[in-house]
Amino acid sequence: MTTESTSSPLRPEMLRQRFQEIFGDTAGLCIARAPGRVNLLGDHTDYNDGFVLPMTVDRAVYLALRRRDDGRVRLRSLNFDEEIRYPLDERPEVSPGEWTSYVTGAIEELRRRGLVSVGFEGVVWGDVPLGGGLSSSAALEVATVVALQSLLDFDLDAVEAAKLCQQVEHRYAGVQCGIMDQFAARLGRENHALLLDCRTLSHDDIPLSLGEINVVIVNTGLRRALASSKYNERRAECQQAAAFFRQHAPAVTALRDVTADLLEAHQSGLLENVRKRCRHVVLENQRVLDAATLLRNNELAGFGELMNDSHASLRDLYEVSCPELDALVAIGQDTAGVLGARMTGAGFGGCTVHLAERSAIPDLEERIQRLYPPRFNLEPDIHILTRNLEAGPAEE
Ligand code: GLA
Repeated sequence: MTTESTSSPLRPEMLRQRFQEIFGDTAGLCIARAPGRVNLLGDHTDYNDGFVLPMTVDRAVYLALRRRDDGRVRLRSLNFDEEIRYPLDERPEVSPGEWTSYVTGAIEELRRRGLVSVGFEGVVWGDVPLGGGLSSSAALEVATVVALQSLLDFDLDAVEAAKLCQQVEHRYAGVQCGIMDQFAARLGRENHALLLDCRTLSHDDIPLSLGEINVVIVNTGLRRALASSKYNERRAECQQAAAFFRQHAPAVTALRDVTADLLEAHQSGLLENVRKRCRHVVLENQRVLDAATLLRNNELAGFGELMNDSHASLRDLYEVSCPELDALVAIGQDTAGVLGARMTGAGFGGCTVHLAERSAIPDLEERIQRLYPPRFNLEPDIHILTRNLEAGPAEE
């Protein structure tokens, strides 16, 4: 299936109607959203204190909320047709990774900080594909925080909100993720990519003036299970490697601090797999910085080449790709007019991202549809990104 960004989604209106059906009327209703993200460059660098270059997408998670005066929380997921009800200060036990773990986790973190102390009710709905590599969970966490902030008007700056949402992932979903997804969902801006230094959290919005070039996202159709994947294992390998380099250079606190020279000088002391992980991180960080410069200068051909290099590195050195991702990337790279292609996000399924001339897209679609499904028995979802959203109130 191929879809293109729609220009005026009536999603807030749909939430309002569903809220009315469930709760009777819509007095005092507040609607907010947070988008998913696609990472253009820099994967598995964030938890190594490195650099990333994501942008938000045109799909988001929306919450429509209003206050209750009995201190209770009642929320209905329209995607799952499930509901949770509980007193605010008695967070229920929920399974890590379920929608309820992200929502109740975010509420609990806000409550513990004294920012939420009243009850509320509402509906939640999203069109970010679940487990599809576009960070539906970060969108859900951030949307929960942003919606409660619009409803209750508390002070929480955007960077703190992103950090809080990362905590939710660590404490309630069992994934030791970095900060990229939550940061992008909270701070990513329309028509911009976000260059983020994951150590200092300093960030730069890079305007996207892509002209006749489009970002195309292709979902493998293979669901990515982050917690059960090798994500936490990779993270541990990186910590091990940083500790090893610290013996040689005491200033190293994360792989971000390992230079190409330091790696060269000492890599023989590492196990083969750990050596490969390090090479990826060191080279990928540099690619992000180079790519950001190219993007600022609108040198998109060079940017595309770095995407290709990044994919090879994630496949061969970091070993987080899979045959489905590799096949979509190869199809992209073999299509005239495609400037670059790579897997995006954690890997082991999820999505690829392609930079393609508009005129090349029909050819890209045709080749994917012809070559991919018969080989994998999966339906790829091709999405042409023509706009991207920001987190915030959604009263459009
Ligand atoms: C997942 C994590 C992020 C990041 C990416 C890989 O999306 O949530 O923090 O580590 O994988 O770049």
